Amino acid sequence: MGIRITPSVLSADFTRLGEEVDRIASADGVHVDVMDNHFVPNLTLGLPVVEALRARTDKLLDIHLMIEDADRWAPAYAEAGAESVTFHVEAARAPVRLARELRSLGARASMALKPATPVEPYAALLGELDMVLIMTVEPGFGGQKFLDLCLPKIRRTRELLAPLGKDVWVQVDGGISESTIERCVEAGADTFVAGSAVFGADDPDAMVRHLRTLAEAGTSA
Ligand code: DX5
Ligand code: ZN
Repeated sequence: MGIRITPSVLSADFTRLGEEVDRIASADGVHVDVMDNHFVPNLTLGLPVVEALRARTDKLLDIHLMIEDADRWAPAYAEAGAESVTFHVEAARAPVRLARELRSLGARASMALKPATPVEPYAALLGELDMVLIMTVEPGFGGQKFLDLCLPKIRRTRELLAPLGKDVWVQVDGGISESTIERCVEAGADTFVAGSAVFGADDPDAMVRHLRTLAEAGTSA
């Protein structure tokens, strides 16, 4: 199982996003949180900023859409050149159609689940996806406390993915730090978003490397 660290720029300095991305050279991708103040009670950034980031970095752009009407807005992020586009299943009217559309535009298709959303009702969709994002806090803000109650869902997602025999990534997002990453690895996550833990560190890239070391140690245990 490969390990990927995808820091969230939500905790970066928005006045100099390009330079902030340069500070995480070891990261496997850049996680970008798009919020619309409807699906979540917070407003961040949208397509123009993603397009600017695309022009600035070759890193994998991992777009996390916390917006209503994902069916309408998500494809534009794939068209902008994001390698991965995550929609919340709670905000998608036709998740199968949307996943297929994202893939047809050349992006990895990913589905996110809020903490109280179970994975079982979506078992039949998993074959349409390249990643499942298990939220480990309520979406909307950085710096929240990790919710241990999400761990069984990570495990369950892995169980449901196993028979597919495909390398579908399982990403966790929210409260991921050096003190919580190992229990997520142990439950079956392989892709880790960390916002405040990385950009709140004196040396963000050193923290990325540290998180990777902890995660890789977890997979070989
Ligand atoms: C929260 C966002 C996260 C956020 C995580 O809704 O989806 O990506 O940046 O921040 P931390 O790592 O500080 O919990
Ligand atoms: Zn996120």
